[in-house]
Amino acid sequence: MQLESHQSLSYDLHQWSQGYQSQPHEYDYWIEDIEGEIPLELDGTLLRNGPGLLDIGGYPIAHPFDGDGMISAIAFREGRAHYRNRYVQTQGYVEEQKAGKPLYRGVFGTQKPGGWLANLFNLRLKNLANTHIIYWGDRLLALWEGAEPHRLDPQTLDTLGLDHLDGLLKPGQAFSAHPKIDPCGDRSQPCFVNFSIQPGLNSKITIWELNLKGKPLRQSTHEIPGFCFIHDFAITPQYYLFLQNPVSFNPLPFLFGLRGPGECIDFDRQNPTKVWVIPRSGDESIKMIEIDSGFVFHHVNAFEEENQIILDSIGYESFPEVEPGSDFRYTDFNQLAPSQLWRFRLDLTHRRGNRQLLETRCCEFPQIHPQWVGKCHRYVYLGAAHPNQGSAPLQGILKRDNQSGETQFWSSAPHGFVSEPVFIPKPGSEVEDQGWLISVVYESQKHRSDIIILDAQNLEKGPLAQLHLQHHIPYGLHGSWSPNQQLGMG
Ligand code: CO
Repeated sequence: MQLESHQSLSYDLHQWSQGYQSQPHEYDYWIEDIEGEIPLELDGTLLRNGPGLLDIGGYPIAHPFDGDGMISAIAFREGRAHYRNRYVQTQGYVEEQKAGKPLYRGVFGTQKPGGWLANLFNLRLKNLANTHIIYWGDRLLALWEGAEPHRLDPQTLDTLGLDHLDGLLKPGQAFSAHPKIDPCGDRSQPCFVNFSIQPGLNSKITIWELNLKGKPLRQSTHEIPGFCFIHDFAITPQYYLFLQNPVSFNPLPFLFGLRGPGECIDFDRQNPTKVWVIPRSGDESIKMIEIDSGFVFHHVNAFEEENQIILDSIGYESFPEVEPGSDFRYTDFNQLAPSQLWRFRLDLTHRRGNRQLLETRCCEFPQIHPQWVGKCHRYVYLGAAHPNQGSAPLQGILKRDNQSGETQFWSSAPHGFVSEPVFIPKPGSEVEDQGWLISVVYESQKHRSDIIILDAQNLEKGPLAQLHLQHHIPYGLHGSWSPNQQLGMG
């Protein structure tokens, strides 16, 4: 490694890579080691999901997306906080822990031991339950986009089994890990909106809307031409929005046991991204608008403005392809194009779209105030890199004011690495940025994680409270906040 380039970095790659060590233990304790003060009004539970095991019986997995789902629940009560984590007892997790070695192939390249012969035509994929966790309609659900969710006991986090939403989902049917809560979708009551995708030569998208009790309000199925790789979507009061990124899928290396399916996706830079604008009510036809987008995993939000839809998303210049045989623990960030915050304007009358770069700093995991989903949001919160240009690990939290263009930034560099910041509104307040941001920060020097609480109106004054855990949490994916006081406390 060249010393001069090393010294200019805001992080140490080896320290960063330590956040990808497995956490095989399950804990249950009140957090005692706290700096600052937990706001008394912060009352409820932060739920987090992500890959907890980065190896199976010592066999390293090829990509963090292939790691078994581990749920953390951080419950806040009267200025105190309780931590509990549990593995989702998926069929694959239980079988592999018993066998002490991988028995399934991963989506992103983890192969069973034994070389290509052992993997030849083995199409069994493990439902990892590792992407998101949400509490809705008395169900606590661990989500993974490739198959149905796992239902957990809300108090103990024990796994109850696969959940088919009272028969809404067929066995094995996909259920996205990015549901949206429409704050006033059902006669001014919140409703839950999610989709399933069945890829093929033509792709089938099924969309459900559920009421507060988890009962179906609407369901529709749409067929769109071509292969789709869709991780997330956006909603407005009238529409669902899906971005069909220009990618193609070549299944042969996967079928022959040489690669995971995630490694068989090719990005086609020559072609535009297609935005599918699907009406929620069904009396209007589907519209398709072509845009120049690069590759998008996550959306911030969308809203309607006269005959336009505004869509804010995190864009990559190209699909971050998974190179077979590469070690994700030693990602060369200098080789990656930064993911950035973009705004797309979709003209529904002329079926035209354009894009505008809102923020150059490398960022991911966008969040807004939950009441502004589908409406014209002013503030966005993101996990962001420390340097203001180029690609780097997420070490800070960024707030952007879309009205003024101003930003606020708090950083945990050089030793800290952040996760998705979850926005929690201040109870009783109508002000869009009045609330807190909570993030799990991996403190690499101590090889432990902190839970940090920031004042969303003033990030730059630093954390209101920093809760030191007794252990580390491997880098996670998504999470949510629930005001329910019982979660994780049984
Ligand atoms: Co995601």
